[in-house]
Amino acid sequence: MTRYARIVGWGKFLPPKVLTNFDLERMVDTSDEWIRTRTGIRERHMVNDPNIASSDLAVEAAKRALSVADMTAGDIDLIMVATSTPDHLFPATACIVQDKLGATQAGAFDVSAACSGFIYGLALARGLIASGEIDTILLIGTEVLSRFVDWNDRETCVLFGDGAGAVVIKASEERGGVMASMLGADGSGASLLGLPMGGSRLPPSVDGIAEGENHIKMKGRPIFRFAVHVMAESSRVVMEKMGWAPEDVDLVVPHQANERIIRAAMKQLKIPMEKAYLNIATHGNTSTASVPMVLVDAINEGRIKQGSKLVLTGFGAGLTYAAVAIEWGARTPAPEAPIHRNILRKIGYNLAHVRSAMRRAVRAFYGFLLGPEEGGGWRVPIRQKFDEWLGLRGKEK
Ligand code: COA
Repeated sequence: MTRYARIVGWGKFLPPKVLTNFDLERMVDTSDEWIRTRTGIRERHMVNDPNIASSDLAVEAAKRALSVADMTAGDIDLIMVATSTPDHLFPATACIVQDKLGATQAGAFDVSAACSGFIYGLALARGLIASGEIDTILLIGTEVLSRFVDWNDRETCVLFGDGAGAVVIKASEERGGVMASMLGADGSGASLLGLPMGGSRLPPSVDGIAEGENHIKMKGRPIFRFAVHVMAESSRVVMEKMGWAPEDVDLVVPHQANERIIRAAMKQLKIPMEKAYLNIATHGNTSTASVPMVLVDAINEGRIKQGSKLVLTGFGAGLTYAAVAIEWGARTPAPEAPIHRNILRKIGYNLAHVRSAMRRAVRAFYGFLLGPEEGGGWRVPIRQKFDEWLGLRGKEK
């Protein structure tokens, strides 16, 4: 029996602060006219609270997706977070999301494929569900790119925005969902876009920061050419796998990097531009969050119905590229979840905070109880007993 990976929940979250092109005019040598005509962007959202990180946006988007799916965090088997701006190099942001949601039954890991990450995640989800290993997956794309942008570099700072989008993917025997995928990469283009500092190649250093290596570096032109080609090519591959002609496709959900890239790719695909959904004007390029947020906007605008044939396509640093074909299975708009179920979910999230705090407290208590033997006083025999129990030392004679 074939197991299909159907999207049953979706949600997005944008930080409230909006940065317009006119705001940028006051920061760097640019103009609203240049940004609009060269990229299609008018404004973007950005996090302006230093305490908010990618996992926080991810959790908000995930809660909305779980509400649409009318599921609780306990129903999730696996959390995948696609992100280029994780909370930390490690642990995975997905683990932080797992804890914040209280998804105690879920495994968790990050997908690092830059702006193609969400589509890579959809392809992975399809495979895991088809294999029978996993039933329910929460896949999130989340970014706080504003924290890594060089606000003096006009070539990059005008492009990027923050946000998060999430979907719940569930195994089903009914046909539909993510039906075909294509994953690609060309690592010879790795130097064209990235964040040089922070990894093992160039760990953080004062000198590096002084040279601006802690900011996003990009060579826009070659990426532009690459992007048009791979967006069209990857879409063509998944359409061929599905046996779809250009006229069969109801909607293209493209990564929102530049409106001109999308127009050129659509032209190559011979699919009219009206069949591409764009929110770049108000969102900018939100990397891994862009495709799921477009999906949510298109659903909310009534552009996706049961049975719609969708092509999702993207590209990004790596260089990576990917596409998936989706036969949309869920009802849109989603029926409102009953109020009591929403209340239960809210209680669940609050309990998750309590549970997490308790687990930390217990660990801290053990840390204190089993602390260093030197000067440990009354704690020494307890620690010895505990170590014996763990097999860390032989029984005291
Ligand atoms: N405001 C005003 N002028 C700007 C500018 C800005 N924000 N950014 C660049 N310029 C200038 C350049 O300095 C250049 O000036 P010059 O001709 O005097 O040298 C001129 O505009 C044209 O630059 P160019 O790089 O050729 O522009 P472009 O049409 O290629 O557009 C990008 C630049 C970055 C918008 C475009 O190349 C692009 O979108 N590339 C893909 C990037 C991308 O998608 N990255 C994310 C991948 S997920």
